Amino acid sequence: MNRLRGKRVLITGASAGIGRACARAFAASGADLLLSARRFPNLESLRRELTLEHGVDVAIERLDVRDRAGVETYVAKLVVENRLPDILVNNAGLSRDLLPFHEGKVEGWEEMIDTNVKGLLYMSRAIIPHMVARDQGHVIHIGSVAGDTVYPAGNVYNATKFAVRALNEGMNVDLVGTRVRVSSVDPGLVETEFSEVRFRGDRERAQTVYEGYTPLRAEDVADVVHHVANAPEHVNIHRTVVYPTDQRNPYILHRGDSE
Ligand SMILES: NC(=O)c1ccc[n+]([C@@H]2O[C@H](COP(=O)([O-])OP(=O)(O)OC[C@H]3O[C@@H](n4cnc5c(N)ncnc54)[C@H](OP(=O)(O)O)[C@@H]3O)[C@@H](O)[C@H]2O)c1
Repeated sequence: MNRLRGKRVLITGASAGIGRACARAFAASGADLLLSARRFPNLESLRRELTLEHGVDVAIERLDVRDRAGVETYVAKLVVENRLPDILVNNAGLSRDLLPFHEGKVEGWEEMIDTNVKGLLYMSRAIIPHMVARDQGHVIHIGSVAGDTVYPAGNVYNATKFAVRALNEGMNVDLVGTRVRVSSVDPGLVETEFSEVRFRGDRERAQTVYEGYTPLRAEDVADVVHHVANAPEHVNIHRTVVYPTDQRNPYILHRGDSE
């Protein structure tokens, strides 16, 4: 059953990877979209693609989730335009570097905390009160298995995803008595631009992360997000953990003969 047709979905970080795949999955179900990211040309081509293929309404916004005033202004504009989302997908996020804590780069730490934690907070704080007022809405965070288990040199990235897990639970606890749902979809290894960003443009090194096994594709994660969003209103899927079959926890990865 398609419960998403005609719903409005706001996705942060929709210019690539999991966010873009979520936009495609929701559009295919007839949902209207509010897409944001910093790379505007990527959003423009996605808007063209989705309006053409699915005839849905797609509004795009150049937005850096680290910019608190920018996020607040954007949401204020949505209020004026009467375009508040039914579903918010907090996807924008990144990792920087893979260094032992004592060799870590502080500016990379700040970028991760500002994006993965503070950006998610700004957007959630701006949107959720309107959901509470309407007594309806769904917030879906893209967390990570990095929020379950710390891996070597993951330190601050792990800490940001542990924070997302705590906030997922905290928001759920505080929203009891409302019909606003909060969920987290927490993937293992997904082949996107994620590793290229982590290794600051070193494509060769990024490629090695995905060698010798079949990682998740962004579309696989989008399928799960779509499933979570499509659940009946009385069903609140708190957390979904999704790994590639070749990976069973952050340490157990089978690199052998795969596609
Ligand atoms: N790939 C994985 O293995 C994996 C595993 C678990 C969880 N995740 C999580 O999945 C989410 C999406 O990552 P991905 O794998 O799809 O990586 P990706 O391909 O690098 O996409 C990241 C997206 O986030 C956006 N973004 C980054 N910083 C932003 C900012 N300050 N403001 C607005 N948008 C920003 C990027 O857009 P712009 O650069 O255009 O702004 C891009 O659209 C992240 O939260 C990540 O932590 C990824």
